[in-house]
Amino acid sequence: MMPLIFQLPEASGTPPGGEGLLSSLCAGLSGERGVLSLRHFPDGETYLRVESTVDGRDVVILASLHEPDGKILPLIFLARNLRELGARRIGLAAPYLAYMRQDRRFQPGEAVSSRYFAELLSQYFDWLVTVDPHLHRIHSLGEIYTIPTSVIHAATAVARWLKAHLEKFVLVGPDEESRQWVEDVARRCGAPFMVLVKERKGDLDVAISVPDVDVWREFTPVLIDDIISSAQTMTTVVKALLSQGMSPPVCVGVHGIFAAQAYDQLRQAGAGQIVTCNTVPHVSNAIDLADDVVVEIKKILTT
Ligand code: R5P
Repeated sequence: MMPLIFQLPEASGTPPGGEGLLSSLCAGLSGERGVLSLRHFPDGETYLRVESTVDGRDVVILASLHEPDGKILPLIFLARNLRELGARRIGLAAPYLAYMRQDRRFQPGEAVSSRYFAELLSQYFDWLVTVDPHLHRIHSLGEIYTIPTSVIHAATAVARWLKAHLEKFVLVGPDEESRQWVEDVARRCGAPFMVLVKERKGDLDVAISVPDVDVWREFTPVLIDDIISSAQTMTTVVKALLSQGMSPPVCVGVHGIFAAQAYDQLRQAGAGQIVTCNTVPHVSNAIDLADDVVVEIKKILTT
């Protein structure tokens, strides 16, 4: 039976390009697009109705989990409803997986949200596919998720994009946490790289030490990070590299969340091109991971 594929709508409506991944999944998985009515009552509560025939079918819910708090309840209601309507298995394709950074109790009394979020999703889904989750102190999703999980790595697609669009470049990782992505992309491109040292003093306050980059002056700097959220990290590095006479850095993020005015701030700081993968719909999406997502889901659906 054809899998049924739903997309959880964004609260702000579908942004440009946001339909692309859904269409690719439907085509690549020979799936049927699920029909769903989701709206809010005047008091803010969620109304949800599944209009497709679900009984006995594999179901995939595509939901990129940036701005997760407004999505989690409709997502759980949808999964719970699909279960009652007889779905065979219910999978979550979350190209961006939220709550991966609060993975430890840094201060007494803090919630370890990564674990709680994982426990919640594991109750309602049979499997999870995602792209480069922020694994740092947690080394694999299996440490916190109790359902089968598959992780897609964007490094191959990022390296392909860089080789096709740039000539002489040096990769720059803003902090130790970015080393895993920067090293991987550098190896695939055969490009040099450096990893800087970052100290985060607050949500919107980061300090980054940049070494003497004189030797790289002829190269285009390419900043690589997994997440661009407030863009403070990238903005700080962009300014530091420009002050050392380097050309406008190309900024590459796997997940371009761009909270509030982050995108404009990064551009105004003097960034060159800003490029992201299509894991979070955004005008900067230039690297398409749809084929990779299809391949991973296919593996699950054929078992
Ligand atoms: C953190 O360790 C991540 O890898 C990113 O560096 C971080 O999330 C970027 O955040 P922001 O854009 O808010 O500086």
